[in-house]
Amino acid sequence: MDGSPDDISNLKYLLEPESVAVIGASRDPQKIGYQVLWNLIGGGFPREKIFPINPKAEEILDLKCYPSILEVPEKVDLAVIVVPAKIVPMVLKQCVEKGVKAVAIISAGFGEVGNIAAEEEIVRIAREGGMRLLGPNIVGVANTHNNMNASFCQALPFKGNIAFITQSGALAIALVGWTLLEKIGLSALVSLGNKADVDDADLILYLRDDPKTSVITIYMEGLDDGRKFMDAASKVSAQKPIIIVKAGRSERGAKAASSHTGSLAGSDIAYTAAFKKYGVLRASNIQELFDWAMATAYMPPLKNNNVVILTNGGGAGVLATDECESSGINLMDIPPELAEELRKYMPPFGSVGNPIDLTGMATKEWYKGALKALLSHKDVGGVIVLYCHTAITAPMEIAEAIIEAYEESNKDKPITTSFIGGSECLKSQEHLRRNNIPSYPSPERAVSAMAALLERGKYLMKPPSKAPKLDVDRVTAQRIIGKALEEDRSALSSIEAFQVAEAYGIPVPPLQVVKSREEAVSVARSVGFPLVAEIESPDIIHKTDVGGIVLNIENEDAALKAFDQILENIKKNTPTAKVIGVAFRKMVEEGQEVLVGMHRDPTFGPLIAFGMGGIFVNILKDVSFRITPLTEMEAKEMISETKASKILYGYRGMETLDINSVVDVILRVSQLAMDFKEITDIDVNPLFVYRNGCVAVDVKILLGKSEKNENKP
Ligand code: ACO
Repeated sequence: MDGSPDDISNLKYLLEPESVAVIGASRDPQKIGYQVLWNLIGGGFPREKIFPINPKAEEILDLKCYPSILEVPEKVDLAVIVVPAKIVPMVLKQCVEKGVKAVAIISAGFGEVGNIAAEEEIVRIAREGGMRLLGPNIVGVANTHNNMNASFCQALPFKGNIAFITQSGALAIALVGWTLLEKIGLSALVSLGNKADVDDADLILYLRDDPKTSVITIYMEGLDDGRKFMDAASKVSAQKPIIIVKAGRSERGAKAASSHTGSLAGSDIAYTAAFKKYGVLRASNIQELFDWAMATAYMPPLKNNNVVILTNGGGAGVLATDECESSGINLMDIPPELAEELRKYMPPFGSVGNPIDLTGMATKEWYKGALKALLSHKDVGGVIVLYCHTAITAPMEIAEAIIEAYEESNKDKPITTSFIGGSECLKSQEHLRRNNIPSYPSPERAVSAMAALLERGKYLMKPPSKAPKLDVDRVTAQRIIGKALEEDRSALSSIEAFQVAEAYGIPVPPLQVVKSREEAVSVARSVGFPLVAEIESPDIIHKTDVGGIVLNIENEDAALKAFDQILENIKKNTPTAKVIGVAFRKMVEEGQEVLVGMHRDPTFGPLIAFGMGGIFVNILKDVSFRITPLTEMEAKEMISETKASKILYGYRGMETLDINSVVDVILRVSQLAMDFKEITDIDVNPLFVYRNGCVAVDVKILLGKSEKNENKP
């Protein structure tokens, strides 16, 4: 224990305590304090290491009661607190005095109801006393492998290797029943509640080294410190899959999430981008969460996206094929020698296309033979096995055949299965799961599980890369931004934004500000025709709306006229705006319009955007996002994820454009955002892309106060 809030060493006492005290153990079976004690005993935790604390009772459930934790004659690792909020600080102080290492506070009535001061007080007591604090406002914590159910969930889940961390206590309760029904085993179940101290990041780091956990699943509503979570995920993902259901996708959902736990839900796009960066799989619902958890717990990742569907029913195969296409799974062409081998396991009218259709006549021997042939072929990356219950086969026999085929393979390729039919299929699914083969009731779910294995494979195979060090003129940018901040402005003027962009190596057109009629002609000549004239004012962001822009100025007379016209429009339309002059900017040759931007997310910091630029950006929404710092590979991925990339790569005979120059701009915008935490938004839109190079035609930079996560990269 190093005393820092993020020290995870004491989490051992939360999840693997040798002794547990229940402070507020009640004599009344209707009370939570009674149920927690009941669960600890019922779950099989050693009775002699359970210490009920209640000043009014001698004995509860045949265990000796102590009036306070200070009276317990032995050391206590974990204290579960189930007394009303107002006496929690008092019992916490006693825990500190006793030398307790971790506390789990079930009691509600803290931050979630606006009682911030009380929550701060309990965190302070715990931290000063060297204890880690789970909660408050939780259902509790359970670890199946040491028979510890320190919660008021209805039962201890089956033993398994999936850890489940949840911000919602109600979901913990509901899910225990569901996992029992679905025969899904858990290693640990942790209710996080208000996350006043222990949070998702602490737990994933701890569970990374837990030998009983092979997959970490999380139900999340929001994060307070997005960067802390990303940092932890970056250390865990390579070793263990992390799968998250993040609630609050919709705006209404986000509101419900924040009122539910008192924490703010960050913008959904930023969460997706943050998860993607470190290979965290984002499931869209609880069922998908556990479907994927099962697949990643039992199977190796799909590293070779050459998948085969093996089925006895055409319809199931078609459904799976459609799903593969929309999930990015590649159904490989079956090479002739493999087709010849597969023919041994089907009637003459079977199909060796992909899906491989063994037909309704398929026997257990055919399933086993075909699956073995597929798994041993060098080109095959993974197999989705589908079975429709027929009168001539018993589902359990087919399940056995699949288990045998997989056991006899090298087990280095993933398979997922779906048994479609009634109760016998359900039993076979359970049998497959017990034998570590992921099995689902519908083809779509088997495909979705394979897609999760593909995502995982892609992440693990990514070569390591670092954000590049770019050559930038930070001093110039600092001077311009500093001046704007001194003047209490929330945006840079157009020319300032261009200057900052230029200082950061983002290509911009020649440009100068004209302050008087007299200099208009000479400046126009030196910038070069055709040119654009636009109002230069810190107060005007949308220039077109106020008549602040004239395009296509071809000669000196027109330049002078535009100068006069713009000033007149501004005087008329926005008379209070401070006017610095009129900027003359060389009109550059039109290129392919794209957008590079940045929005500073309050949870994760700079969120970089790339997409199709121009006026339709908001309608087309062809935009991809990443969280800084960006590597060159990520910048390239961002481009290739959009439809706009097809145009850049030369759509239908069009010439290929300079993608590397766009990658460079993305990296430079990312660097600018990281260097200046006061920048809240950057818009390089449009950025014209040519065969050689690109030019930023418009740059907007907005400023604001720096926020808590922004000084981190
Ligand atoms: N030390 C130990 N025990 C004490 C002390 C003390 N200093 N003082 C009193 N107690 C005993 C009480 O005598 C009582 O035992 P008894 O029933 O045998 O007399 C026991 O502790 C409990 O105290 P009560 O005052 O009866 O409190 P009650 O059980 O009604 O409520 C609770 C306590 C459950 C913590 C409540 O305040 C609370 O917060 N409820 C909400 C819990 C919750 O929902 N958590 C979030 C879950 S997440 C979700 O959404 C499901």
